[in-house]
Order: sequence, then structure tokens, then C-alpha cells
Amino acid sequence: MHYVITQDGSPTIYDENFKEHHHSLIGAYTEAFYKFAQLASTVLRSKNTIKLLDLPFGLGYNLVATLDLCQTLPNKPFIECTAIEKDFEIIQKIAVCPFEENLKNKFEPLKVLSCGQNQIHGKYFSLNLIIEDLLLALPKLKDNFDLIYYDAFSPRSAPALWSKDNVFKYLAENLNENGFLITYTASNKVRKGLLELGLNIAPTSALGRKMPGTIASKQKLSNRFTEETWQKIQKAQSY
Ligand SMILES: C[S@@+](CC[C@H](N)C(=O)[O-])C[C@H]1O[C@@H](n2cnc3c(N)ncnc32)[C@H](O)[C@@H]1O
Repeated sequence: MHYVITQDGSPTIYDENFKEHHHSLIGAYTEAFYKFAQLASTVLRSKNTIKLLDLPFGLGYNLVATLDLCQTLPNKPFIECTAIEKDFEIIQKIAVCPFEENLKNKFEPLKVLSCGQNQIHGKYFSLNLIIEDLLLALPKLKDNFDLIYYDAFSPRSAPALWSKDNVFKYLAENLNENGFLITYTASNKVRKGLLELGLNIAPTSALGRKMPGTIASKQKLSNRFTEETWQKIQKAQSY
């Protein structure tokens, strides 16, 4: 595991076991902001307290970018975050990651996690960090989230983490009626699973990756899929 500085200057981690960077090389912070936080802005504007499920938590970029966005919104919502991460070694890296000055300040409130503290009650957010394999943690989760970020290693290198029955079924059960589930993947098998669970889906921006991401909700979404893409989703067998 080693650090890599991405194009916007923010550091990410390269994981030798999964042979993947934690973020797109276009920018770890940029990706968190545009592929997660910004897509959530409709939900973030809709209430003063937002329940967010952020998984896997990794270095916590997606939460940090969301808190940044919230400060620009008129309602400045409070974020009540539940996060899951398997590897405490990654959490410990938050305290020593080579962030440049501006980012260092943003990550400062998360540094206590590196000492083993798993709850934070801050001015703008609270965090309950569960250190566990998400495949074991999700069946125990009973909540009602406004937002779910799903940011596991890719379906190609970690297919078990993209299972309809072992992952997305639980995410759907824990998503409230107006909530959004946001993920960076365009996998047709993942999309097919989301549809089978009764969710509506739409593509998101492709920023920094070859393919767009996916947003899912129990409410209707404006749908920009082409007929050809629908056919691929219906036929999808493998990731
Ligand atoms: C792409 S990174 C997540 C990046 C993170 N969302 C961020 O904003 O920094 C994938 C993360 O999944 C974690 N992970 C891998 N397998 C897992 C599992 N079975 N359960 C929970 N976390 C897992 C890895 O330790 C790694 O931190």
C-alpha cells in the first residue's frame, strides 16, 4: 500500500492486493466532490439533517467533500454519517496521509479515528464508524438513510462486494423513499440488480473514468439511458 498524488494534488492510496487506486487519478478530492457529493445536492438541500451511509469509508474523502458542499448550501444541513470500513490500517492513514495544507484542515476532525475512537460529534456532522467487513455489517443494519454512497473496489477486482443479494438488497432496505444511492460503477450487472430490487436508475457523469456512474432511488428519476444501454442491462450476466 503506498500513496499516489493525483492530478488535483490530493493524495490517494494504491492497494497492491486489489491492484487498484482508491480514487481516480484525475483527483481523489475531485472525484469525491463530483461523483458523490454534487450528485447528492438535491437531497442535501431538502432537509436540515441528512442521514448518510458512506461505504467503504477508506480515507473519508466522500464525507469530507460532502461537508464542503453542505457549507455552500443555504440550509447548511447537518450530516449524520454512518460509515463502514474493513481495514483499520486505512483509517490510521488519515492521520499521516500527505495532504496539502488546505486538505489537511478538512481532514483534521477525522484524525481521532486513527486512535481507535469510532464516534465523532462535531458542529456540522456526526460520525459512527463501523470497522467490519461490509458483507457482515450490512445484514445487521436497520436504518433509514437519505443518502447512500457506495464506493467499493471495482466489480472486476472485488465482485463479491457488488452482489445484489449480499450488498444491494440491504442498501435498498435501508434507503428511504426519497433517498439516493450513488455509486461510480456503470456495470450492467449491478444496474440490473438495482432494477430487480425495484429501484429506478439513471447514469451520472463519467468524470475521470471511461464510463458514467449510477444513481438509484425508490422515486422516479429522469432517465437518460438509450435503448441500446437498456438492452445491455437486461442481458447482463457478468460484471
Ligand atoms: C475505493 S476505496 C474507498 C474510498 C473511500 N470511499 C474514500 O472516500 O476515501 C475501497 C475501500 O474498501 C475497503 N474494503 C475492501 N473490502 C472491504 C469489505 N469487504 N468491507 C468493507 N470495506 C472494504 C478498502 O479497505 C478500501 O478502503
